[in-house]
Amino acid sequence: MVDDTQRSAPTDEPVLIVEDDAAYRQLLEDELGDARYRTLAVASAEDAQALLARRTVALVISDLRLPGADGRTVLEWTRTLTPVPGFIMLTGFGTIDEAVAALKAGADDFLTKPVDLEHLRLAVSRVLESRRLRAEVARYRALQTSSGFHGMSGTSPAMLKLFDLIRRIARSDSSVLITGESGTGKELVARALHAESPRADGPLVTLNCAGIPESLLESELLGHAAGAFSGARGARRGLFAEADGGTLFLDEIAEMPPAMQPKLLRVLQDGQVRPVGANAEIQTDVRVLAATHRDIAERIRSGDFREDLFYRLETFRIDVPPLRERGEDVAALLRERLQAQTAALGLPPRRFSPRALRALLQYPYPGNVRELISLVERAVTLADGEVIEIGDLPERVQIDAGPLSDIRLQVLPPTRSHAEDWETLAEREARYIREVLAFTDGNKQQAARILGIGRKTLYRKIDEGL
Ligand SMILES: Nc1ncnc2c1ncn2[C@@H]1O[C@H](COP(=O)(O)OP(=O)(O)OP(=O)(O)O)[C@@H](O)[C@H]1O
Ligand SMILES: [Mg+2]
Repeated sequence: MVDDTQRSAPTDEPVLIVEDDAAYRQLLEDELGDARYRTLAVASAEDAQALLARRTVALVISDLRLPGADGRTVLEWTRTLTPVPGFIMLTGFGTIDEAVAALKAGADDFLTKPVDLEHLRLAVSRVLESRRLRAEVARYRALQTSSGFHGMSGTSPAMLKLFDLIRRIARSDSSVLITGESGTGKELVARALHAESPRADGPLVTLNCAGIPESLLESELLGHAAGAFSGARGARRGLFAEADGGTLFLDEIAEMPPAMQPKLLRVLQDGQVRPVGANAEIQTDVRVLAATHRDIAERIRSGDFREDLFYRLETFRIDVPPLRERGEDVAALLRERLQAQTAALGLPPRRFSPRALRALLQYPYPGNVRELISLVERAVTLADGEVIEIGDLPERVQIDAGPLSDIRLQVLPPTRSHAEDWETLAEREARYIREVLAFTDGNKQQAARILGIGRKTLYRKIDEGL
């Protein structure tokens, strides 16, 4: 039993206790604290409402009878939140009707007072566990039914991990540094972080630090007072002020000019912005995201980037994996982009010839998703008929590995140094078959044709366990 309570504790989100009797409130807090739950406690429904408007909690334990509005109101209120927290109602002895009514109104459980502490722990652990499972199921369902996560497709383990990380980091208000090679989707990650965050209803303001002359950057970010410099006629709100209550995305952060870096650092520290030429500061409430495809450590070593600013920006780090490390996604992206592009041009459906598809699946995509998209666009435009041939692909892609029997290992970039990091031929073969099956959406006849093997051989390989 003790094990049960400990498995779901500690949660990252607190348990809210709503109880007007101070001694009882303390008892509940102590008991849950002992079981390693984080707790918050208030004495009225009104205080609970105010708190729930600001904070996400995992579970609410509310007394039914409270001085103002009662526990039923708290319950109703929690049902409007996203995500809906768990709810346990505390009812007086002999008020079973009220307890049943609470369950009907959506409470997960009820406990009668005086509360048996062992029951309390069990109920809390059970409600939190079922809530966690529900969230997990909803997440997988969303992944299966929608086309990915905020415009990002991908079902590879690396991408599922990325989506999960985004969800978790989105809740925080701390800054995030998004790194990854060019074309991996860093901008999409920034958008997803904003959309998943409690600031989603606020603005998302983007500044490309590389695209703006150094002389304009300061007034662009911080704003300026009227007549602050020649050409500055009216006052202008800076991007920090525009992003107030929302998110500011500083793209290509490594290109931020050295003179601007200490000023940015100061704003990040306290949210206070002093527009150029103004004599007062304005307080802003902004979450900052930054992205770069550069090696920032290298920029710090060369003295082009301040280390203190780097640490301030990098409270969380999200590294977006390159496409060559997520083979399964290549197949799905090819199919998606092919459909999207033919539809955009109003063309009848197209397909890749087996040779073209083999080449596309083997190619390492140094330009990542952006390169894949433009390859498909180009091929769709160039193709004469219904079938996209290998000749419709750029020369660098036209390495046809041939049928499965002689897949060449050298098309993989030789970045791995340790012998044990290399895939065996059997692993590579299995991965390739999985990719082709992903492309054909499980159609084995079509997959066998692409792989250049018989259908029976394919079935045997699948049976042997890919
Ligand atoms: N997982 C994905 N699913 C679908 N489209 C994607 C995915 N990742 C990236 N893209 C698309 O690829 C292109 C490049 O993505 P994005 O601009 O976010 O890359 P980036 O990492 O910011 O690159 P850079 O460092 O060059 O700025 C965009 O058109 C984007 O919509
Ligand atoms: Mg970008």
